[in-house]
Amino acid sequence: MDVDAQVQDVLTYDGDAIIVNLFEGVKKPGGATGAVDQALGGLVSRAIAQGEFQGKTGTSLLLHTQGKLRAERVLVAGLGKQEQFELETVRAVTGEALRLLRTRGCRRVGTILHGTGAGGLGIKEVAQAITEGALLGLYTFEQYKNKKKEGDHKAIQKLMLLVRDRLHLSDVRASITAGKIIAHAVSLARDLVNEPSNKLTPEALAARAQSVAKSGKLTCQIFRKRQLERMGMGAFLGVAQGSGQPPVLIVLSYRGGRRKDPDLGLVGKGITFDSGGISIKPSEGMEQMKGDMAGGAAVIAAMGAIARLKSSINVTAIVPACENLPSGSALKPGDVLWAMDGKTIEVLNTDAEGRLVLADALCYARKLGCQRLVDAATLTGACVVALGSVRSGAFTNDQAWMDRVRAAAEAVGEKVWQMPMDGDYDEQIKSDVADVKNIGGRKAGAVTAAKFLARFVGETPWVHLDIAGTSQADKEKGYTPKGATGVPVQTFIRLALDLAKSGD
Ligand code: BES
Ligand code: ZN
Ligand code: ZN
Repeated sequence: MDVDAQVQDVLTYDGDAIIVNLFEGVKKPGGATGAVDQALGGLVSRAIAQGEFQGKTGTSLLLHTQGKLRAERVLVAGLGKQEQFELETVRAVTGEALRLLRTRGCRRVGTILHGTGAGGLGIKEVAQAITEGALLGLYTFEQYKNKKKEGDHKAIQKLMLLVRDRLHLSDVRASITAGKIIAHAVSLARDLVNEPSNKLTPEALAARAQSVAKSGKLTCQIFRKRQLERMGMGAFLGVAQGSGQPPVLIVLSYRGGRRKDPDLGLVGKGITFDSGGISIKPSEGMEQMKGDMAGGAAVIAAMGAIARLKSSINVTAIVPACENLPSGSALKPGDVLWAMDGKTIEVLNTDAEGRLVLADALCYARKLGCQRLVDAATLTGACVVALGSVRSGAFTNDQAWMDRVRAAAEAVGEKVWQMPMDGDYDEQIKSDVADVKNIGGRKAGAVTAAKFLARFVGETPWVHLDIAGTSQADKEKGYTPKGATGVPVQTFIRLALDLAKSGD
């Protein structure tokens, strides 16, 4: 689907449908919705008066215009309570409205810029949010279906943003371009997570990273087993040794800043399938573990957008990618591994593999000179228990850095929740035989996993995002269909742009 803008009134747009809106509790619609209501002889007000439509979020009213408007249909989308209205509402409402119109076979749809009137939002921000909500809400993954349910044949071809004032047109078009770049990145991350692990092997993930690099001003380096051995990545190699698919370390680098500017380091867990290894997982739900590279996918996808948006910042992305499988050569409970920085790790559960591969990746990020780090990983089931699929867990060794990451996440609607990192938790990962052990017992599992990672970042300001609960959704909501969400691609992009803007 394409998104564009033109100067036009809702009453004269001649597509298959137009989208207008209503705040919850409003009895007499105003603005564009009011104009539509009037043209339809009060049909909208009537539905409101009858209690059929109240403007709640997630609800809408679909009417045929019977020639009273140039467009065939009007969809009045509920914006919810005005006090709670935000950009995220615009994305969600747009995604939901378009999915509904797709089921009705609409091909050309026009929309007003929700919330720029009574809602008090800026036109540029809203245009970008509509673009993102539209493209992401209509996202499908039907590659492996011979008969496509939603894709191809039932596709909305064009969403037209109806701009009232010609003065705003170029701003709106620029926002649409930015929104497309961001939505494209989120969709790429979703694709990678949705891909089955027989297709998306570590080597295939590396190939995807290389094609991202080719499409922007990025360099991509791939390190394979022999090099990883020379680099001393014993923890990463330990996890990889059970699988016939060899491990790869993917390093993407973008240099948009001045030469001496320190790099932002983005690190993502890239386990293309996590069976648990010798500490094997129960088979029920194991298929979800094809998405155990969601952090790595987000990092790779975000890099593409950061480059295309020409952010004036240097960013390095690191993704350790491998499978975690049981076999005659697999890592075993009780084994001791050497991480890149020389620390020894006692492996007591081979299913706690994410922290092992990340240990080496974080060491490497520091070695490359990254001075601020963020990692994203589907790290613990404990985080899913604590926060469900609503918020990602956020952990840090530096509160000021956390505040900046949190602000970026907040701004793009990817919710996080800061978790504690008291020194007292270190007790739980003390090992009898090595410097540290890879599990911390039943209590506070998400925290002890973060505590383990903290051992490998030293003093470098670092935030760890545990996305185990947020990287996949079990039902559609707003602009997120069922399956991969693409979290936290938008946070990464926003963070890079914020840092570039602030220049420190
Ligand atoms: N990839 C899993 C975590 C996970 C669980 C991601 C659910 C997405 C949904 C991770 O590698 C893992 O297995 N963690 C273990 C750690 C435990 C053995 C200390 C867990 O959470 O059970
Ligand atoms: Zn695991
Ligand atoms: Zn895992």
